Amino acid sequence: MSKSRPTLLIVEDDTGLQRQLKWSFEDYELLFAKTRKQALAHVRSHEPKVVTLDLGLPPDPDGTSEGFAALEEILKLAPETKIIVASGHGERSSALKAIAMGAYDFYQKPINADELALIIQRAFHLYDIETENRLLANSLARSPLEGIITSADNMVKVCQMVERVAPTDASVMLLGGSGTGKELLAKALHGLSARKDKPFVAINCAAIPETLLESELFGHEKGAFTGAISQTIGKIESAQGGTFFLDEVGDIPLALQVKLLRFLQERVIERIGGRKEIPVDVRIVSATHQNLEKLIASGIFREDIYYRLAEITISIPPLSERTGDAALLAHSFLNRFNEEGRKSVKGFTPDALTAISSYPWPGNVRQLENKIKRAVIMAENNWVSAADLDLAVKDEEKLVLNLKQVREEADKRAIRMALAQTEGNVSQSAKLLGVSRPTFYDLIKQYDIKV
Ligand SMILES: Nc1ncnc2c1ncn2[C@@H]1O[C@H](COP(=O)(O)OP(=O)(O)OP(=O)(O)O)[C@@H](O)[C@H]1O
Ligand SMILES: [Mg+2]
Repeated sequence: MSKSRPTLLIVEDDTGLQRQLKWSFEDYELLFAKTRKQALAHVRSHEPKVVTLDLGLPPDPDGTSEGFAALEEILKLAPETKIIVASGHGERSSALKAIAMGAYDFYQKPINADELALIIQRAFHLYDIETENRLLANSLARSPLEGIITSADNMVKVCQMVERVAPTDASVMLLGGSGTGKELLAKALHGLSARKDKPFVAINCAAIPETLLESELFGHEKGAFTGAISQTIGKIESAQGGTFFLDEVGDIPLALQVKLLRFLQERVIERIGGRKEIPVDVRIVSATHQNLEKLIASGIFREDIYYRLAEITISIPPLSERTGDAALLAHSFLNRFNEEGRKSVKGFTPDALTAISSYPWPGNVRQLENKIKRAVIMAENNWVSAADLDLAVKDEEKLVLNLKQVREEADKRAIRMALAQTEGNVSQSAKLLGVSRPTFYDLIKQYDIKV
C-alpha cells in the first residue's frame, strides 16, 4: 500500500509543527528531517518528488543560510524535485532568492494547512507531468528511420519494410492519406539506397496543370511548342542515377499514362520535339492518397502502369491508428518549434495530451504539426492547454455521421486513448474503460485496432 502513496519530505526543525503536518498529510508517504544533512540523506535514499523546506534550520535557526544551502544541494542531487520553501522571516527577498535558485514555490509561516496542501498537490501534479514529458522526449531518440518519429508497431513495420526494400531497385508505391509522411518515407528510402549520393527528384502530378505536366516529366527541345524558348531537361532525366518520386500518381491524365508506361517498360525517354531516345536509369518511387483499384476499375488509371509502379506497395497507416504516436510527435514538434521560435514552452497540460490522443487527425501528421506550431505561438504560459490546440470538431463533420458511426468513433477513440495511456497494456486498458478483458479483445478485433 505504501508504494502507491507519493513521497513527501518535510524539512522542519520545529517538532510541534512536524506533528501538525503529519496530521494534515495522510495521503502521502511522509519523511521528516530536522537538519540539512538528514534532508540530503532522505533525498539520496528515497528520492521524494516534493519537499517542503524550512529556511531556518540549525545551526542557523534564525537565519536562512542552512535553508538556502539545503535548497542548493537538493537541487544539485535531484534537479527535478519540487521544493516548496517555508520561512517565518516573511521577507520578500528570501522568497525571490529561493525561486531564483530553483524552488518551486514559497509560502510564509504560520502554516495554513489547507493552503499548503493545495500547493503540495500541485507540485506533485507538475512533477508527474514533467516526468511524462521527459520520458516522451527521451523515447524520441529511438527513431527507426532518419527523420521519422514513431513508436507504434504498425508504423515501425512500415519503416522496417522501407529499410528492407531500399537497397533493391524494385519500384515502390506508397499508399497513405494526406500528411501521413509519404514524401518523408520516399526520401528515407532514397537515403538508404545505393543511389543516395545521386539526385532525389520529386514531381507532384496533382499540382501541375495537365498541359505542363508532360514537359515537366520529359523535358522539351527548343521550339518544340510555342513558348519553348530553350531546351529544358525533364524531371525524369534530371534524376539520372538517383530516385524519381512520382507524387500523387493517381492524378496523371490517361493520355500521359501511355507515354509514362513506355518509359517504365523501356527506360528511355524522348523530350518533346526531340528525335533521340535517351536512356535513363532511375529508381521509381510513387505515392498516392487515392484508391487506385477504384481508379483502375473506372478506367481512369491503367492497370499495366500500376503493376510497373507497384512492384512493392507499402500502406502507411493514418495517424489515428498509430497507438501513442500523436503524443510522441506532439512533443517532438513542440521541441522543434520551441527552438525555431526561441520559445520555452515546457510541455502539454493533461487535458491537452488527452485531446491530442483522442482527436481523429484527418490531416494526419501534417495537421498535427500545424496545430502544435500554432499552439506554441499561442500558448500564454509555459504549458500548452487543450484550448491552445483548437481541436474542435467542425459542425459539418458532426452532421455527416449517423448515430452508429458516432458510437463506433467514440468507442475507437476511447480504446486508442486507453491503449495510449497504458502503453498498450490490454488488461489495464480494459479496466480503464470498465469492460472485461474478453470484451476489450472483441472490440479491438471488431475495429481492427492493433495493440
Ligand atoms: N513519422 C513522422 N515523424 C516526423 N515527422 C513526420 C512524420 N510523418 C510526417 N512528418 C512530417 O509531417 C509533414 C507531412 O509529411 P509528408 O509531406 O511526408 O506527408 P505526405 O503524405 O507527403 O503529405 P501530403 O499528402 O500533404 O503530400 C512533413 O513536415 C513531415 O516532415
Ligand atoms: Mg506529399
